[in-house]
Amino acid sequence: MPEPAAIETALRNVIDPELGADIVDLGMVTGVSVDGGVVDVGVALTVASCPLRGQIESDVVRRVRAVPDVADVTVTVTVMDQEQRSALMNRARLRARESADPTMVAPTTRVIAVSSGKGGVGKSSLSANLALSLADLGHRVGLLDADIWGFSIPRIVGAGAERLSAGPDRKITPVSALGIDVVSTGLIVEDEDTALMWRGLMLSKALEQFLRDVAWSPALSYLVIDMPPGTGDIQMALSRLLPQAELVVVTTPQKAAQKVAARVADMARRSHMPIVGVVENMSGFTTEDGSHYDVFGTGGGTELAEDLGVELLGRVPLDPLIVAGGDDGHPVVRAHPNAPSAEVIIAIARRLVELMPPAPDDTCTARLAVLEEMLGEQTSVHRQSGATRG
Ligand SMILES: Nc1ncnc2c1ncn2[C@@H]1O[C@H](COP(=O)(O)OP(=O)(O)O)[C@@H](O)[C@H]1O
Ligand SMILES: [Mg+2]
Repeated sequence: MPEPAAIETALRNVIDPELGADIVDLGMVTGVSVDGGVVDVGVALTVASCPLRGQIESDVVRRVRAVPDVADVTVTVTVMDQEQRSALMNRARLRARESADPTMVAPTTRVIAVSSGKGGVGKSSLSANLALSLADLGHRVGLLDADIWGFSIPRIVGAGAERLSAGPDRKITPVSALGIDVVSTGLIVEDEDTALMWRGLMLSKALEQFLRDVAWSPALSYLVIDMPPGTGDIQMALSRLLPQAELVVVTTPQKAAQKVAARVADMARRSHMPIVGVVENMSGFTTEDGSHYDVFGTGGGTELAEDLGVELLGRVPLDPLIVAGGDDGHPVVRAHPNAPSAEVIIAIARRLVELMPPAPDDTCTARLAVLEEMLGEQTSVHRQSGATRG
């Protein structure tokens, strides 16, 4: 039987992107019933035609499914009555006022943490190319290099010579590279001394600084995080600091990667981070004359996705263009968008947008305005909700 407390924690990680608070806090969860491994979550929406209905439902399912011993999740949707709605608006206002936001990342920003059990599987290459693809699909995107020592993002996006600067408010401004907002230790470290200073810093503290002291734009639809290899402190810190974070797990086709993968799954469970899907990288090599070689074996991605109960988002072939693009600051999705590897990565980005749709910005005030009207309120909720986002 799944733990009720674990289910509640999972539900607290479902954020209503318009109100910027979690659905438990907002009183939108009307009840949870557990029957064996099957969990039914009652969710009360503010208005029947809530534009976020699909998103909230699918977030609830993904979050609760990540709880140990949960086999299946159903959602029973109801609509709030007048009294419940006004209670919700009061809570939302309280939240907005309290909004000593622990990080600078807006609750409306979808966070995709690209992880793997070990290094060298292509996390950094995929993080950068996925971030650029999401930007090419019309979204404002940030890219955080959380691989504090093994940073490689600056070189991949051709920003190796740039340095982060602090604004008048002492917040760090991300470097703009190829149209995305980039932050990495590689954009700070100037010399041995600074490097040594950073070395004294706990890794999870470094991540915390990147989330608290960087002026991430409130307009970011996606923040892609290139995670360090393994399943240590930094992963746990991420789930604590950014409860909206979800994992994309990268693996090679090698079957022996199972043990490594099990560790990622275990960490995901402990930290209540849902896994969006698996990307198999370095899946086979096709020569110009069409001969195909499964250099690193086959089936690892499919098997891992099955084990984790998530979908295989795509299989990216071995491609020298990924190596070359990573060395000279011309990532493959920009330099060769028609290369087979780039096409797969772009398709994965599209799928991620389907699975984790960006918060519908323009319906926000519209929905709040409707609520205001229904409640006959005088105070401006719009301004306060804007404050949570900023
Ligand atoms: N699909 C691929 N085809 C060819 N080389 C790749 C591919 N993906 C990554 N690489 C190369 O493999 C090396 C490791 O990739 P990287 O993205 O740095 O992995 P990680 O961040 O997991 O350590 C880099 O030299 C990169 O260019
Ligand atoms: Mg890396």
